[in-house]
Amino acid sequence: MIPKLQVALDNTSTADALASVRQYADELDVIEVGTILHVAEGMEPVRLLRALYPEKTILADIKGADAGSMLAKQCFNAGATWMTVICSADIETMKGMLQMANVYGSDRDVQIELYGDWTFDHAKKWIDAGLSQVVYHRSRDAQAAGKSWSDEDIEKIKKLSDMGFKVTVTGGLSVEDLKLFKGIPIYCFIAGRSIRNAQNPSEAAKAFKAEIKRLWDHAG
Ligand code: 5RP
Ligand code: MG
Repeated sequence: MIPKLQVALDNTSTADALASVRQYADELDVIEVGTILHVAEGMEPVRLLRALYPEKTILADIKGADAGSMLAKQCFNAGATWMTVICSADIETMKGMLQMANVYGSDRDVQIELYGDWTFDHAKKWIDAGLSQVVYHRSRDAQAAGKSWSDEDIEKIKKLSDMGFKVTVTGGLSVEDLKLFKGIPIYCFIAGRSIRNAQNPSEAAKAFKAEIKRLWDHAG
């Protein structure tokens, strides 16, 4: 499988997000309403994106931490295909979100956002509970403080994949970073600033697509 391409709309207004995504929506498999946009505008961008792009997978990156089924209901009701939960949430919160996802349809899902001090014991509990997607995340703030992708990151990503997770990778990704993950069955790459803020966002999205195809197409 060739990894999907997702763009994170971490804009601070819906108008900016919609003006941005219309330039490169054709290149995308997944459109993300970023956490920053959720904080600014609530669920409205999810509703608008669902109306504008009925065929696309839409992710609500709320990084939920509690009240799982209630948060999930808000996301899926607004039209999200997937939503996110923070890895430190209680397993019951994650299960509540997943149960609500199943109520809305078999295409609905919950992604666990990996930040901070999670362990592979946690990961075993997640997969035993039926959660199948994780997002391996280099945080925006860690990146700003100088953290780059390391061998340890790559080993953890491989291990999560070997456990059976669909692993998505994100965090200040550039086209040049993609080759670091070659040979791993990455489910999806999320880019935000490097596409939204590019001089030509459409060309930037195309460059991500082309590089993903170049690196993974032969993988079968
Ligand atoms: C940060 C996020 C971002 O949406 C994700 O990291 C992608 O954005 P960027 O490529 O700009 O880092 O969830 O918490
Ligand atoms: Mg995000």
